[in-house]
Amino acid sequence: MSTVLVLNGPNLNLLGERKPEVYGSTSLADVERLCAARTTELGHELSFRQSNHEGELIDWIHAAGPEVRAGRCLGAVYNPGAHAHTSIALRDAIEGVQLPVVEVHISNVHAREGFRHHSYISEVARGVVVGLGVRGYPLAITALVELAAEDGRR
Ligand code: DQA
Repeated sequence: MSTVLVLNGPNLNLLGERKPEVYGSTSLADVERLCAARTTELGHELSFRQSNHEGELIDWIHAAGPEVRAGRCLGAVYNPGAHAHTSIALRDAIEGVQLPVVEVHISNVHAREGFRHHSYISEVARGVVVGLGVRGYPLAITALVELAAEDGRR
């Protein structure tokens, strides 16, 4: 059994209250339950986190890299929120520790404002799930676990 890390960036603590017409009415606690159910089905354990602080997210990513190499963690499902569009530091952190990441966006960022169309994180992600609502999280967990198995990391 390995850990699946699910990371959430700024403002995702407001899920369910913020712009429900865009992000839906599901809370982050509900998303955690969805993720826990899928991770358990797949025989692994979940570590689910959210931060509004770039440095804290960088520290979590740095700590996850060695856990992946030690075979204790499969990688991260990561919704970077607006950091996707702004943070070279988070992009470099993922690249720096070679963390396998499946990026998730709840909304279809490509159907929204132009500044949401580019993600620095996508450049270093194994794959991206966009615009499928919160069901993107369990889909991304399934993909992360299958990719790890293909890589011989389970
Ligand atoms: C988001 C999309 C981002 O553009 C936005 O800043 C968010 C949420 C999403 O899940 O759709 O905070 O990552």
